[in-house]
Amino acid sequence: MQPAVINIFEKAAKKAGKILIRDFGEIENLQIESKSIGDFVTNADLNVEKSLLETLKYYYPNYSYITEESGKIVGDENTIVIDPIDGTSNFIHGIPHVGIVISKMINNEITDGIIYNPILNEFYWSSKGKGAWCNDRRLRVSNRTNLTDCLIGTGLPFGESTYRNYLLEIDEILKATAGIRRLGSAGLDLAYVASGKLDGFWEKDLNLWDISTGILLVTEAGGRISTMNGQEWAVSNRDIVASNTKIHESLIKKLSLH
Ligand code: IPD
Ligand code: CA
Ligand code: CA
Repeated sequence: MQPAVINIFEKAAKKAGKILIRDFGEIENLQIESKSIGDFVTNADLNVEKSLLETLKYYYPNYSYITEESGKIVGDENTIVIDPIDGTSNFIHGIPHVGIVISKMINNEITDGIIYNPILNEFYWSSKGKGAWCNDRRLRVSNRTNLTDCLIGTGLPFGESTYRNYLLEIDEILKATAGIRRLGSAGLDLAYVASGKLDGFWEKDLNLWDISTGILLVTEAGGRISTMNGQEWAVSNRDIVASNTKIHESLIKKLSLH
């Protein structure tokens, strides 16, 4: 059974999801601004976040909030983290791979989270100790043990200085695995690792709102999360490696060749 906090996150996400559906791929009606190269914000991102905050603050007026578009609101030791649209580039281009991300942390520990893709009606949720779920299906990571059979997700940076090193990592992973996917939503990439669709994932320089729910989904589905050099991941880390556990060491080894 879903805990009460997940019911409230679901209520908030499904209400705001209507705005996302209405504006999805409506390029003529979208106001698009570029925060930096390849990093966009649209009026839909802002409206979805506004709607989420309205619902969540009604139920949790004293909590702290960390949001992508409106920044931080300081409150008590409970923190709600929000990414109104993870996959904004997909959203602008009418690619139905987008998610509304909400998670809860208590003193820097992620305890609950959801990712909702309103276009495909996929509702991912997880609470500590309660497993990882998509709609009413329990999620498990994949069983693959050989990197050569594995499909690995990643995200690509825009700045030339960072992507040079990425090209070397991609070279290593391509040689060692069954392939790479760049799907455009780090949150859903992690949900795909939790679902066993992807066997692993790595990306650098992410924000907490991209990955907070995904991290809980992966661990609750039996997977492993670490930093790039295999250390335990903490909320201050911006780089991440996720896997089905079995391939973790081999994945880290390939990624650390540079
Ligand atoms: C982005 C997506 C993308 C990842 C970027 C994120 P946004 O989030 O998660 O997959 O590669 O690093 O910034 O901007 O669509 O919310
Ligand atoms: Ca994001
Ligand atoms: Ca976003």
